[in-house]
Amino acid sequence: MADSGIENLLQEDRLFPPPREFSEQAVGTADLYEEADADYIAYWTRQAKERITWYKEPTEGLDDSNPPFFKWFSDGELNISYNCLDRHLETGGDKVAYHWVGEPGDTRTITYTELSDEVNRFANGLRSLGVVKGDRVAIYMGMVPELPVAMLACARIGAPHSVIFGGFSADSIIDRVNDQGAKVLITCDGAWRRGSVVPLKDNCDRAMEETPTIEHCLVVKRIENDVSMVDGRDIWWHDLVEHQPTECEPEVMNAEDLLYILYTSGTTAKPKGIMHTTGGYLTGAVTTHALVFDIKPDSDVYWCAADIGWVTGHTYIVYGPLANHTTSIMYEGTPDYPDKDRLWSIIEEYGVTIFYTAPTAIRAFMKWGEQYPQRHDLSSLRLLGTVGEPINPSAWMWYHDHIGPQDCPIVDTWWQTETGAIMISPLPGVTATKPGSATKPLPGISASVVDVEGHPVPLGGGGYLTITQPWPAMLRSIYGDDERYVSTYWSRYPGVYFAGDGAKIDEDGYLWILGRVDDVMNVSGHRISTMEVESALVSHPSVAEAAVVGAADELTGQAIAAFVTLVGSFEETDGLLEELRSHVASKIGAIAKPKTIIFTPDLPKTRSGKIMRRLLRDISDNRVLGDVTTLANSEIVQAIADQAEAYRDDD
Ligand code: PRX
Repeated sequence: MADSGIENLLQEDRLFPPPREFSEQAVGTADLYEEADADYIAYWTRQAKERITWYKEPTEGLDDSNPPFFKWFSDGELNISYNCLDRHLETGGDKVAYHWVGEPGDTRTITYTELSDEVNRFANGLRSLGVVKGDRVAIYMGMVPELPVAMLACARIGAPHSVIFGGFSADSIIDRVNDQGAKVLITCDGAWRRGSVVPLKDNCDRAMEETPTIEHCLVVKRIENDVSMVDGRDIWWHDLVEHQPTECEPEVMNAEDLLYILYTSGTTAKPKGIMHTTGGYLTGAVTTHALVFDIKPDSDVYWCAADIGWVTGHTYIVYGPLANHTTSIMYEGTPDYPDKDRLWSIIEEYGVTIFYTAPTAIRAFMKWGEQYPQRHDLSSLRLLGTVGEPINPSAWMWYHDHIGPQDCPIVDTWWQTETGAIMISPLPGVTATKPGSATKPLPGISASVVDVEGHPVPLGGGGYLTITQPWPAMLRSIYGDDERYVSTYWSRYPGVYFAGDGAKIDEDGYLWILGRVDDVMNVSGHRISTMEVESALVSHPSVAEAAVVGAADELTGQAIAAFVTLVGSFEETDGLLEELRSHVASKIGAIAKPKTIIFTPDLPKTRSGKIMRRLLRDISDNRVLGDVTTLANSEIVQAIADQAEAYRDDD
């Protein structure tokens, strides 16, 4: 477990109580904790009934008759797209749903009525292709308005969607599409990234050579780059929707019907298809969005600067904000294009009031310097948020001092793809914050830091983060693999959910997340399994064996460090090193490219043949080496360490 968290804890005693003016008007109030403590099921049921429009209101809260296969509101019926669109139209159809900003500078303003029309037309288009309730639809797009349209259209007709991050490669599409047996793949001709084009349709073409279940590929024209269209299989989005009416009857969904599958990394090379259902997920999304971000739908301009390809975008760009009738910003590009003040210029132009981003972005902003935010008037901001990885107190303070106007509260929100919605976070009008701490579980959520045996650690102690009660937005299973669901999350400590993170709890009961305790790296807030990168490396003909660890990195939190043993006939050249890095990018995506690769004749192994990643982590982080006495080949460790040293000197 990382030591740095302990250091933070010892050093960090700054406390930021919520400003009085903020508390006085806050959506989330202290009495919610009491209400939820008294009866968490009743609390969540009240949220579900008050915040959601049901066709049939649920009479049941939690069904725990078959743990850990929990159900929530299981006799309720609803449609999520109805909740995100239709119910707002009568009184608020003219309100802006998204101010969309394209990377090259083009913009679109999309009202709720316009969004609804597009969703209905596309939903009819999907139905015209024979897509029915229960069919899976894979989505591989850039950050264009058609992406939320596609998701909502799927939700409207009851077809579970599975968004595949647009930075992934063709191989990643193949794995995910085949795992779920998707019938339709939705994409764009290409996506903009720092002025160049990511060839999304080409990647789909390559993938579709190996995805037999895909019947149609629907293509948004975004870039107008050359793409090939296969007759009968590939259809332009604009052709499909052209003659479709703007009314499409929503499917009546049971609360426990599948809404989406989102793949995330685990400790094996096979990504896990995390399943979220309809009623509980929406309850978690609307409630946490309203309370944590203090949403005032009539005045806020809210911006979650994530990518919809990750869970953060699902819950806090699409479902939460739309169900809450919020006006959001949606931005297509990167923060440094065309210049490093792009985000700040958007905040100024649209008068953004709430801004949510990741620590890795904040560290990049710090590195670029405060002159970029200083160029802009950011005084419209009234609340800041972070998510994705532990935020170091210095990044928290920089965010506070240079982005937020005076006393602007910061919500550090801990959650996961699996949890569906924020779990541990301040309520900005209630909780006094400490830089670097996600503070305490939200009302209705119950967490405990436990030791190896599962006993809660005393205040001041550290251990493993567990969630001790079911919650509505929780994952229901792993697609096609109930056993893996049980063994990954519910077996380490029977009866409670094991999150895979280490945490400390301080004397005031505040939680400090220390990061992953399994073989999953967190690179720029994105989980990548060491196994996945190792498999990609070993799939190259030159590689005999590979071990990968997450090494501490100033900018990205962790960076991927790979140790590679070559097949005898290959030589250790810089050219091969670069080729291997590109090979991983083509297998998984650029995000998984190792930052460093060190060639070594052997890897440190235990006598039973297990690779000792712990030692490789010590080497990567330039720490004193841990115990090597149990190794079968202890001499190799020093050799690798020397090589790593040489590598650092070269840098
Ligand atoms: O290790 C924790 C870290 O991100 C993991 C979840 O990753 P993912 O499923 O990709 O979802 C990311 C966005 C919800 C967690 O197990 N993490 C997330 N938020 C925080 C965090 N670590 C510390 N502080 C956070 N606020």
